[in-house]
Amino acid sequence: MKESLPQKVSVTAVVDNYLDVFEPSTSLVERAVPGKLKGHLLAGHGLAYLVDISQGESTFCLLMDTGNAFETLKHNMEVMGRTPAEVDALFLSHGHPDHYGGLLGFLEWRGSPLPIYCHPDVFWPKYLMTPRGKVGPWKLEREKIEETGAQLTCATDAQQLREGVFLTGEIPRRTDFEGPMPGAKIIKDGEDMDDPLVDEQALVVNLGEKGLVIISGCSHPGIVNTIQYAQEITGNSRIYAVIGGLHLAQVGEEVLTQTINGIKDCGAQLALTGHCTGFRPHIRMSQELGSTFAISCVGSTATLAA
Ligand SMILES: [Fe+2]
Ligand SMILES: [Fe+2]
Repeated sequence: MKESLPQKVSVTAVVDNYLDVFEPSTSLVERAVPGKLKGHLLAGHGLAYLVDISQGESTFCLLMDTGNAFETLKHNMEVMGRTPAEVDALFLSHGHPDHYGGLLGFLEWRGSPLPIYCHPDVFWPKYLMTPRGKVGPWKLEREKIEETGAQLTCATDAQQLREGVFLTGEIPRRTDFEGPMPGAKIIKDGEDMDDPLVDEQALVVNLGEKGLVIISGCSHPGIVNTIQYAQEITGNSRIYAVIGGLHLAQVGEEVLTQTINGIKDCGAQLALTGHCTGFRPHIRMSQELGSTFAISCVGSTATLAA
């Protein structure tokens, strides 16, 4: 029997740079109420989302990224009453340590093999040349992951995990305003070079007539490129929600204007952004996207239903 499209997707921020218990809930985003949790949530550098997808009689839980540090991921999952056994598969958005830092710890904590999806370039050493100097290099150890028995699927092209649940694979850079990340470097076969970050991919859930829910880690390929490619691979032009880190802190006002216009024009009913989006971009998005904008905080859950 052919699977039907998902009826519902819930995206819970388990690790994010932001934590603000005073942000109000909305019709689409429920905020954590501190007194009702088992303990105190922690903000932390990086991103990790628990993505719960309801499809027919079944549910599927995908952990997207693991934050910078396992301790934060574990602590917040426990505070929220979530367990590693609930996770059916893990998706790594790209090879930066603020997204994979908690990966090995999580696999050990879970204690049983887990399917992991990523791009093959996530395993090259990477570093950043920043105004504050060289940061890194870091390397995600493939062997250590495989030792846990994890089933790695490394793909460069788009793939459908289940009916209506896609990983984009490499995202074509088509807009003229979304450029590479300044200072991003990769060491391939011992040679240092600019990192085009082709390894970044987004998770896309197709809710049919309601549209697509696009979940992006750092959006290094550009969120507008990501939106356009999600439309292309799913054949659905409608966008319901754009969620994730947009990495806009370093861009100029003009690029920011074009990016915000791209989000506005896609018609999303929710832009829920956090992590690396940047303080100044968040202020502008809040001003220009109005009630469709919400900041992604640790403990928040966005629920999008078909
Ligand atoms: Fe990041
Ligand atoms: Fe990144």
